[in-house]
Amino acid sequence: MTSPSPATAVADAPAPADAADVPDGLRLSGLSKVLGGRTIIDSLDLAVQRGELVSLLGPSGCGKTTTLRMIAGFLSPDAGSIAMAGRDVTRLGPDKRPSAMVFQNYALWPHLTVAKNVAYPLRLRRLSRAEVADRVDAMLALVNLLHHRDSRPPRISGGEQQRVALARALVQEPDVLLLDEPLSNLDAKLRVKVREDIRDLQQRLGITTVIVTHDQEEALSISDRVAVMNAGRIEQFSTPTELYARPATEFVATFIGALNRFDGSFDGTRVVDGTGVVGIRPEDVAFSQAPRPGGMRAVVERVVPHGHFHELRLRREDVTLNAYVSGPPPRLGSVGFATVEAALLYRDGRLVERAEAGVA
Ligand SMILES: Nc1ncnc2c1ncn2[C@@H]1O[C@H](COP(=O)(O)OP(=O)(O)O)[C@@H](O)[C@H]1O
Ligand SMILES: [Mg+2]
Repeated sequence: MTSPSPATAVADAPAPADAADVPDGLRLSGLSKVLGGRTIIDSLDLAVQRGELVSLLGPSGCGKTTTLRMIAGFLSPDAGSIAMAGRDVTRLGPDKRPSAMVFQNYALWPHLTVAKNVAYPLRLRRLSRAEVADRVDAMLALVNLLHHRDSRPPRISGGEQQRVALARALVQEPDVLLLDEPLSNLDAKLRVKVREDIRDLQQRLGITTVIVTHDQEEALSISDRVAVMNAGRIEQFSTPTELYARPATEFVATFIGALNRFDGSFDGTRVVDGTGVVGIRPEDVAFSQAPRPGGMRAVVERVVPHGHFHELRLRREDVTLNAYVSGPPPRLGSVGFATVEAALLYRDGRLVERAEAGVA
């Protein structure tokens, strides 16, 4: 038997489903919530694809947890709708939705063993003892916790407790996994490991996931896309790379990464008088001891080591500019030349363009 040519294979394959026919993993439409007389969530729209990991990123108090609680069904919206895998779930209680949530404080029962904590949601569904035991053990194996099967949560580490909470959510085989600040109770080193574990598991299971976080590095490093929230609204919903290179609003530009901000416009070399706002990322400022075309003479006013790079504060008269440089840093107080390689231009708070040096 000969293998079919690629053309035959394509002709024989069933017609691909029209992308428009495949429902999103999760869709929020016009979601609003008033709490304590204030509009906390303001007509929020969000469409998450099946199998996608999306972070809700924003400062404390911007409405991330409120949004997640509405998705999970613990809080009902005042307006708008929520659909999971194409089905409207707006009026369903949390236990009737195909979603499971990992709470910020894990919410484990301290008096129950790890296995009993994970079994709990299955017991509520009245599965047989044997089936519960099988599924719990399979899940504990998946998160590497079989050896702690009979331990109680207070006896295991924070990272292990986090994995118990994750196992308790995943054992329900949800279509949508919801996590509220899942790493905030872990120390810095463990945070990086656990977030990589969560990403691996999420990709292996192909599960639609929403993670709430206020930590930009966390959001950028594990998400397919990030929704940046501010005061109950989504300011931008993009891939991590796009979000950083082309922040759609001044809020996003200042919230993610560092920014030198000036009133004015950019002539391709430097900031000049004008009505807009110019944002320059510190890594888009080059600094050299030797004069360079378009370089501005500046004094090195501060040098902050960050390990693999140095942060410089450069001063020219009453203007300061932060720059990140790799390699050996210049001496404090020395004079050199700063060149701007790219700038973000905003008008009325919105991105007009990203200008590369010399082309504006
Ligand atoms: N039950 C409530 N009553 C009144 N205000 C609330 C209530 N719950 C939350 N809020 C307010 O809503 C805002 C958003 O809260 P939250 O969603 O927890 O923010 P985040 O998770 O982004 O830090 C905050 O200002 C908070 O004080
Ligand atoms: Mg919160």
